[in-house]
Amino acid sequence: MTACSRHKIAVFASGQGSNFEAIVRASLAGEVNADVALLVSDNPSARVCQIAREMGVETFVFAAKDYASKEEYERLIVEHCRQREVELICLAGYMRIVGRVLLEAYRGAIVNIHPSLLPAFAGAKAIEQAVNYGVKVYGVTVHYVNQTLDGGEIIAQQAFGYEGSDIEELTTMIHKVEHKLYIDTIKKLLK
Ligand code: GRF
Repeated sequence: MTACSRHKIAVFASGQGSNFEAIVRASLAGEVNADVALLVSDNPSARVCQIAREMGVETFVFAAKDYASKEEYERLIVEHCRQREVELICLAGYMRIVGRVLLEAYRGAIVNIHPSLLPAFAGAKAIEQAVNYGVKVYGVTVHYVNQTLDGGEIIAQQAFGYEGSDIEELTTMIHKVEHKLYIDTIKKLLK
């Protein structure tokens, strides 16, 4: 990553966008030395797209079904990122496996946040998986993205105890931990 004064990052998201919003707020507050130059989303009706519009963040929103292959839409994503000199890609609830084109273009510069202590409970519905298993210690992981689902090198983790089984309460707790851990990790990665 270059030592320029203000870095450029892109956030990829498909859903509610609470992490996206937290990152943009941290950027606007000067807490993170980076501009969120782009939101990439595969879900035009996602709340995150609305938040991006309200916060004035540029978007590239696509529907995978409009493209012949993952390679095709990922080439476009790379183009949008490069046009804005994006250095770091932060996945935040992006519900697609990242493919070869993106991984090669942004080697070592794509990170993801996952709502469990990996390698436990990889994949979808991690919070529900953990609750159903009956764990008493929950947590969050930030990791590099590679070709394996939730399998890249771990960068940061944070654990906390919770004895209940209220998914909604737990999700709120997890999001709170995620927002801080993701921002702290992005700050470190950009140094
Ligand atoms: C987060 O829990 C994140 O860990 C997972 O997807 C969720 C996205 O939440 N990968 P939000 O859209 O940022 O609110």
